[in-house]
Amino acid sequence: TATKAPRHLLTIDNLTSDELTKLVDRALVHKKYFKEGNVPESIATSLRGKTVPMLFSKRSTRTRVSTEGAVTYLGGHPMFLGKDDIQLGVNESLYDTSKVISSMTSCMVARVGPHSDIQGLAKGSSVPVINALCEMFHPLQAITDILTIREHFAELKGLKLAWVGDANNVLHDLAIACAKSGINVAAATPKDYPIDIDIVEMIRRAGDETGAVFEVTNDPLVAVKDAHILVTDTWISMGQEAETQLKLKQFAGYQITNDMAAKGGANPDWKFMHCLPRHKEEVDDEVFYSDRSLVFPEAENRLYAAIAVLEAFVVNGGKIE
Ligand code: CP
Ligand code: NVA
Repeated sequence: TATKAPRHLLTIDNLTSDELTKLVDRALVHKKYFKEGNVPESIATSLRGKTVPMLFSKRSTRTRVSTEGAVTYLGGHPMFLGKDDIQLGVNESLYDTSKVISSMTSCMVARVGPHSDIQGLAKGSSVPVINALCEMFHPLQAITDILTIREHFAELKGLKLAWVGDANNVLHDLAIACAKSGINVAAATPKDYPIDIDIVEMIRRAGDETGAVFEVTNDPLVAVKDAHILVTDTWISMGQEAETQLKLKQFAGYQITNDMAAKGGANPDWKFMHCLPRHKEEVDDEVFYSDRSLVFPEAENRLYAAIAVLEAFVVNGGKIE
């Protein structure tokens, strides 16, 4: 018998604007249940008897803890498989690995290098594949960030978010998520680190429905002008360690500080966000540990976003309502 192809979450672009909003709505509901210690029984048992393998070929603090916590919350069993545990693309093709693992489990949460690896897993899988970060996208982080923004701003439409940093996975999905949420984004990246043109087009298309604008520049001061939220990430993503010295030089002037925000004319009430892990070169301590900084609530929100995603894609078979 033919089985229906599973729905995967490889990038925020796999969600409609309405679905993204609904996922965040659900995440907020789960946050309340979790905080009150009062999770309805039907939810707490919804993954009972189900295994959620987590195939991680890179380090992780937040994604691992939040995903394992989310599976536990839903009553399932998280199975962490690090890069030395299984034959992930080593000694066995991704396709074969995926076919085998998916035959015994309810979904696959995977953190990989190239985007083609997550696509390869999805191709072989009979169950939903959730991207837990690849070189191009980080959808779980972007859902979390919209959730965090919603908690701190009454209205998303008309907000401006400024990204000052690298053209990376976190920016890509965050910008798509903002576009789908009606948030304007200005991204400053150094001249030698432009955002891939296909991704720029993807972000702009994502904003068609909401009218959100996506602007690119090489000048952090231009990006932060009138911004309500300043965001950055590490300049050296996992796998780029060999480029550290070069990148530190090319990102000179990109550190987020109160002085930079004032010079660029950011909104006086601007907030700061960062997916973490953080290093001092991209944001100084004064901003990072200030009242403007949402970084710790943002990190905690990873849990509620992971719950909402597993509920939608695994428990509800990809229906988001
Ligand atoms: N923000 C994030 O994905 O953190 P980890 O790499 O620690 O999972
Ligand atoms: N851009 C970073 C994000 C880590 C959560 C990386 O890919 O390493």
